[in-house]
Formats: sequence, C-alpha cells, structure tokens
Amino acid sequence: MFRGLPLPTFNDFDQILVALSYASMEYVGGAAVRTQLTPRIFTSNESPPSEKIPFHHEMAQVPSPPTHLFFYCEVPPATGGEVSTIILSYVGNGSLQTPILPSGEVVRRLQEAHPSILSQLESHGVRYQRTMSEYDDPSSAIGRGWRSTFNVTTREEAEEKLQSLGSTWEWLPNGDLKTITATLPAIRVDEGENRTQEKTFFNSVVAAFLGWNDTRNKGETAVMLGDVDEYCDSSGLQTAAAIMDEIAVAIPWQQGDVLLLDNRTTMHSRKPFEPPRRILASLARDPQR
Ligand code: FE2
Repeated sequence: MFRGLPLPTFNDFDQILVALSYASMEYVGGAAVRTQLTPRIFTSNESPPSEKIPFHHEMAQVPSPPTHLFFYCEVPPATGGEVSTIILSYVGNGSLQTPILPSGEVVRRLQEAHPSILSQLESHGVRYQRTMSEYDDPSSAIGRGWRSTFNVTTREEAEEKLQSLGSTWEWLPNGDLKTITATLPAIRVDEGENRTQEKTFFNSVVAAFLGWNDTRNKGETAVMLGDVDEYCDSSGLQTAAAIMDEIAVAIPWQQGDVLLLDNRTTMHSRKPFEPPRRILASLARDPQR
C-alpha cells in the first residue's frame, strides 16, 4: 500500500503506472462491468454497492491472468467498501498497513478442514459456466455483456475470441450467450525463481459459487469440474468460503491510496459500501514473465 502520495485524480495514478515497467493488460474475459478511463485504468467492478464480491484471484477464469493488480482510491466510500486481502505478514504494527497472505494459506487450511474438495479440484480442474447478455447490465455483479466482455461488436468476433480462449458457447433464443470456459487448473503452484513454490487456491470457484447470481445465472451451476459432467462439491466450496472470511483482513481506503497486489499469491474481495466511492484498477503483467 502506497499511502500519502499526492494523487488527487486518476490521471496522477496513470502517471505512476506509466513510469513503472509492468506491461498493462486488457480486461478480456472478465465478468464485471467496468469502464475504461485510460489505456491502463478502468473502474473496479461497478456492481451495486449493496453487493459483496467474494474472494478471488483476478481473472482466474481465463488462461493468462494478470500477475499484478493495482488499485487506486480516487474517492473513499462513506462507509464499508474495503478491499479485503488475506494476511501474509503484518508490515509495521498498525491495522492500516497492508497485510496480505498467500492463498496458499487457504490450501493449507482446506487440507485440514475438507481434503476431498482439494483433491477434486486438483485432479479435475474447473470450468466456469456463465450466461451473458448482449449489452452490460449494471444491475448485476456479473452483468458484463458479451460485447464488452470480449471487446467485440459482432457474434462472429465474439466466437473468435471464445475459440481462442478454448471456451464452448451457445446462443440462446433471447440473444444471450451461454459460455463454458476451457478446463482450467484450480490449484496452482506459485513456481519460478524467487517465488513461494506453494500451492495456491488459484481459481474463482468461491466467487462464482457465491456470487454469480442474477437473472441469467445461478452460482450453484457456475462451477463445473473439468473432465466430468459434475458440479463442484458445494459443501467444500462453503468450507473454503468460511476459511477465507476467517483469515481475511480489510483495509479501509483513504483518498490517494495505491494498492499493489501480487495476483498469483493474493486473493481479494469487496465488501458492500455506501457511495460515493471510486476505486480504479489496472491489470499488469510482471515484465519477467
Ligand atoms: Fe477483482
């Protein structure tokens, strides 16, 4: 967390991003409704303030998620709206510092509490099922329409993107698009030089199971196993969600805060909040990878 820098608007945040050597990434394939402000910056999830967004690694449902995320607080919320992370270590001694924790801790605790869900996720991997409208539906936390999800204007272009992501799809009579992602690993190893070498709970299963509910989708049918026609075990997903809530720490936002998260080892979520609040985000890729 970088706090106390003179960053009154997103243009100042943009200058920081430009000065760093991370490559920025497009938000292609994600489910949240967002507005692009500069080539690097977009609004964080525009879902209704009353909605909680469960813990997730950013874009874990696509084959190449960002390695890092930047968040910037342009307008802090009246109350609530904290970004919750999971604690790695306390930096300094105040709760307003930036505690984070590898999602490896979720794996360790799940190994004790519900080993069968871990082996299910490890051996099969997961697929995510989501039905999207043509245009964005801001009344839904996952209301991103297919045009903006894939940054396209025609069905043919959408199909090209889906094919490149390895997804399967079906056009519904009302114009909605039902998609099932390729099988993705749900447990990954944070491998590489100077990495933790730990297993991480690198997936969106809890977020999808708890949060992918709207007029088109049901969380219970959002998470499918990879190579068998079965849904992921719901009691295991509930246990994982409870573990996350237990070890999470929320950081109250202040104006001008910049938060840099390692998306490979850290999960995040959003609590409900009272407007006004404007948190902006940028996706980045480690220049080494
Ligand atoms: Fe997120």
